[in-house]
Amino acid sequence: MPNSPEISISRRGVLAGSAASAVIAATTAGAAQRAAPATLAPLPAPAPQPMPVSLTVNGKVQRLSLDPRTTLLDALREHLHLTGTKKGCDHGQCGACTVMVEGVRINSCLSLAVMHEGDTITTIEGLGTPDKLHPMQAAFVKHDGYQCGYCTPGQICSAVAVLDEIKRGVPSHVSVSLTDHPQATNIEMRERMSGNICRCGAYSNIAEAMAEIAGENA
Ligand code: FES
Ligand code: FES
Repeated sequence: MPNSPEISISRRGVLAGSAASAVIAATTAGAAQRAAPATLAPLPAPAPQPMPVSLTVNGKVQRLSLDPRTTLLDALREHLHLTGTKKGCDHGQCGACTVMVEGVRINSCLSLAVMHEGDTITTIEGLGTPDKLHPMQAAFVKHDGYQCGYCTPGQICSAVAVLDEIKRGVPSHVSVSLTDHPQATNIEMRERMSGNICRCGAYSNIAEAMAEIAGENA
């Protein structure tokens, strides 16, 4: 059926009106764009002032001036060149960076160096030397407690601290009692070492090395 004149006129009007609206919208958007102020890139935050920090690392007093954002791991590796401590994840997930602070193991990637003013820190370099291995280092060698060796400094520092924890009666998640003195059982040692990841899977050999030292110290 042919369209009525009213309807035809009305449709043309709508089309013309739409086109005009589009032109106006485009013009308005263009004008708005030209009028919009340029977005300024945020200024970089000024670097914090270096802070002095004194650490006793492997028996030697070390005085450093550090950006307060420096982790203990980076202070050891980048500033003191003690590269035995390894950086695996840098997020507290692998244990490769384990060192002992005041005899207690920590993930050095999760701790700022300036938080350790005056602290005594032991790294793998402070446990033994190639000529005079720490007993735990010797046990790792004897029991093949490593393959690639990347996790090994952290494993050894952790293992030494774990046996000390057990000796001091610190309970773990698998300790039967929170008050009875824990024993250096396989399950206790595996639980306590669970934060130290070994991609090579040397876990059983590590547990054997630890058991030997625990037995000697029992
Ligand atoms: S590097 Fe610190 S936990 Fe992985
Ligand atoms: S020995 Fe290779 S990651 Fe542990």
